[in-house]
Amino acid sequence: MSFLNVLVPDRRPTLETERLILRPFRLSDAGDVQRLAGAAEISATTLDIPHPYPRGAAEEWIRSHRPTFEEGLGVHFAITLRETETLVGAIGLLITPRHNRAELGYWIGVPYWNNGYATEAARAVVAYGFRVLGLHRICANHFPRNPASGRVMQKAGMTLEGTLRQHVKKGTAYEDLVTYGLLRDEFMRLTGEQ
Ligand SMILES: CC(C)(COP(=O)(O)OP(=O)(O)OC[C@H]1O[C@@H](n2cnc3c(N)ncnc32)[C@H](O)[C@@H]1OP(=O)(O)O)[C@@H](O)C(=O)NCCC(=O)NCCS
Repeated sequence: MSFLNVLVPDRRPTLETERLILRPFRLSDAGDVQRLAGAAEISATTLDIPHPYPRGAAEEWIRSHRPTFEEGLGVHFAITLRETETLVGAIGLLITPRHNRAELGYWIGVPYWNNGYATEAARAVVAYGFRVLGLHRICANHFPRNPASGRVMQKAGMTLEGTLRQHVKKGTAYEDLVTYGLLRDEFMRLTGEQ
């Protein structure tokens, strides 16, 4: 247990949806993270998840979450099934405080794909971002070869804004990113809050 854990209460949120509980990661999740995020399919369509997944990387990633949250730079959630507490994926917002905006990112373990879990989690995290964090804009990007992620963004209410040509380098290849965004006003109108 770290110094921070002893002295400062953990203020990180837990969100509940119909089928999911989105909670802070614990160090005891590291084995599941390594197994699920370590699948080649996850690395293939994400920018920063390596394959093979190095030993110890999951612990290091989980340890980074609390300071990131305390500094107002982001929030990470473990996506777990309400009924069984099974960890099925991860979702989070990386915040740029200067512009009061965040980038949404997520992955779901391969055995759990196409059950609507990413969509359910994304909707909850987007709502948390606007209602609780008071963000002005939430954006998200996917590789053109990953249309399933585009569907998640659409179903979370986001608008297609275009393609950033060869915007990132993955390995040795420059790749396009399809970019989506949602503004606070649009979210409020979608949810009937305005
Ligand atoms: C992208 C990802 C998060 C989707 O998770 P998921 O829980 O399966 O997503 P959902 O079930 O909520 O929604 C998937 C949607 O994509 C659709 N879909 C799945 N495969 C598809 C394909 N090859 N082409 C088009 N649509 C596809 C599904 O039909 C569903 O849409 P629908 O509800 O309109 O039918 C998951 O595949 C994943 O983790 N991939 C690897 C990591 C990754 O790419 N993360 C996102 C980086 S931007």
